Amino acid sequence: MNLNKQPFGETADAKPVELYTLTNTGGMQVKITTYGATVTSLMVPDRDGNPGDVVLGYDSLEAYSTRKEYFGCIAGRYANRIAGGKFSLHGTEYQLAANDGDNHLHGGIRGFDKVVWQAQGVEDDRGIGIKLDYLSPDGEEGYPGNLSISVLYTLTENNELRIDYFATTDKSTIVNLTHHSYFNLAGAGTGDILSHDLMINADRFTPVDKSLIPTGELRKVAGTPFDFTKPTAIGDRIDQDDEQLQIGGGYDHNFVLNKDAEGPCLAARAFEKKSGRTMEVYTTQPGVQFYSGNFMENNIAAKAGLLYHHRGGFCLETQHFPDSPNRPDFPSTVLEPESEYRHTTIYKFRN
Ligand code: GLA
Repeated sequence: MNLNKQPFGETADAKPVELYTLTNTGGMQVKITTYGATVTSLMVPDRDGNPGDVVLGYDSLEAYSTRKEYFGCIAGRYANRIAGGKFSLHGTEYQLAANDGDNHLHGGIRGFDKVVWQAQGVEDDRGIGIKLDYLSPDGEEGYPGNLSISVLYTLTENNELRIDYFATTDKSTIVNLTHHSYFNLAGAGTGDILSHDLMINADRFTPVDKSLIPTGELRKVAGTPFDFTKPTAIGDRIDQDDEQLQIGGGYDHNFVLNKDAEGPCLAARAFEKKSGRTMEVYTTQPGVQFYSGNFMENNIAAKAGLLYHHRGGFCLETQHFPDSPNRPDFPSTVLEPESEYRHTTIYKFRN
């Protein structure tokens, strides 16, 4: 196990940004920058033991600060969408920044993906990690309350990238944090992800309106192209004549996870034949947004001198359901000053 720190560059306002490299003894290595608490690279061995980078990333800090794909970041204060950027809490109405048409997306104009976090190395029984802290001030992007957040990334000796999230506030607020890596288990930049087999442990999903806001219905996946209860290639049904797929330009939907225990439960499993790599996702969260990279245009300048193309990666963003602050029937995303926000998501790799 090993941890190494290097400069990654400077932000526009001259804040130095660092890049941490964590290596385990199972052949995995992860690089995480303090800009956006972002995973920039994740090396995982294939079936022959050859390492390959399975997450998408840009070629510069400047691209991380200007582009809209949210490669590898921590999204928040509220990951995913809030309708009209509005919600009310204990009788007060709040207006958040609108950065996706009229809606609020991934924390607003300058979300947690576009701030510099404070980092420190951590080593425990599980493996080697870094803890990233950020204090989001009262009123940032329209949110109430000073929110103190810690994200602990651990690269375990069992070939897991584990993410533990903690947050506390001094005023009632809303929180929904997620990790936004785009995966391509064949290797970032090798083509689209349509031939990956995917299983999502969800009997229901939340259909959306034209601006990708849930309608409120929890619809059964059975008999629809959203049924991933058995492993199915992502591309098998993605272009079917289905209203929900047309709205998303493919998959861009929240799945309601089947839960059988309190701790992290299996949410999804992806398998890629050529490399033999499998990724399992475990989480304490009630939902996962499966996004098939539909908004990716062709020829995105990426790390290693590569160009990425449409659907060159997929995200499994563990989260609360989109627009929960306006849906009293969805699991609550309210955080009160006397309680602590705590969630865990684990991306586990096998080869
Ligand atoms: C999320 C959203 C998508 C898109 C991406 C970023 O996954 O659900 O609609 O905005 O982030 O491009």
